[in-house]
Amino acid sequence: MQNQTIVIIGANSEIAKALTLEIISNSKNDDNTQLIVISRNVEFYRQEHFHQLPSACVNSIAVTAYSEDEISHAVKKIDLIARFEITKVFVCHGVLHDQQCQPEKRLEDFSPEAFTRILTANTITPMLWLKHLTPVLSGSHDCNIVVFTARVGSISDNKLGGWYSYRASKAAMNMLLTSAAVELARRAKNIKLISFHPGTTDSPLSKPFQKNVPEGKLFTSEFVAKKLLMIVENTAIDGKASYLDWQGKNIPW
Ligand SMILES: NC(=O)c1ccc[n+]([C@@H]2O[C@H](COP(=O)([O-])OP(=O)(O)OC[C@H]3O[C@@H](n4cnc5c(N)ncnc54)[C@H](OP(=O)(O)O)[C@@H]3O)[C@@H](O)[C@H]2O)c1
Repeated sequence: MQNQTIVIIGANSEIAKALTLEIISNSKNDDNTQLIVISRNVEFYRQEHFHQLPSACVNSIAVTAYSEDEISHAVKKIDLIARFEITKVFVCHGVLHDQQCQPEKRLEDFSPEAFTRILTANTITPMLWLKHLTPVLSGSHDCNIVVFTARVGSISDNKLGGWYSYRASKAAMNMLLTSAAVELARRAKNIKLISFHPGTTDSPLSKPFQKNVPEGKLFTSEFVAKKLLMIVENTAIDGKASYLDWQGKNIPW
């Protein structure tokens, strides 16, 4: 296996934690994979077994609220502590509901405050990572940046409506990624952008909406993590953004 550093952002996400464990288990007995995880809550990564690993070494960076200053500072730290070329970045931010808001069922539920919060977490924050990471990642080595979006961000696939803020935040992320891919094809040909839909996965984000998920369609985060790592390994660096689901199938933008 090649020497590599992998960065996981929003690392307290259920899927991010499974990704970490999968990467560690894949790099068993090797000392050639370094993981850098960034989160507002890095407790999971402070567990003792992470410090006793003979294999992947895990460095955590704690942030408080993902302000642009904090993101810029964290990227400088990543650049400083990365032992190898950064080959993969996973940006896992996603908010569908919080204590003050639930996804909208009808137009009357739309709230500018909730929309702003969702857009900040799901779109502006990932975009700031992309902005600050690009100069650090540009070079001659292949690098995949995976931004977690959702199928509901597809404009052409929208048959159900509703969930205005979440849908719009993910659709906006897709537009930012397709635009960024055009720019990166000129200035950072080594970077591939992937907009990723994990499928409905058991996590705090999906918890309130799992009742109607058909049998066998609620994935474990471990299953999604395995699928995603395979997808990333098999995706060509082609100067375009790809919008992929957990099977590696293209989703229409
Ligand atoms: N689970 C599903 O069924 C499903 C389906 C489709 C798409 N997705 C997408 O998959 C991704 C991962 O979701 P998950 O299921 O693993 O969710 P999760 O366990 O609830 O994780 C939430 C993630 O969002 C971040 N986050 C929460 N509030 C935030 C805020 N105010 N500002 C910035 N970041 C914030 C967390 O970062 P910290 O580490 O800092 O806490 C964490 O990375 C999300 O983008 C989600 O939209 C999930």
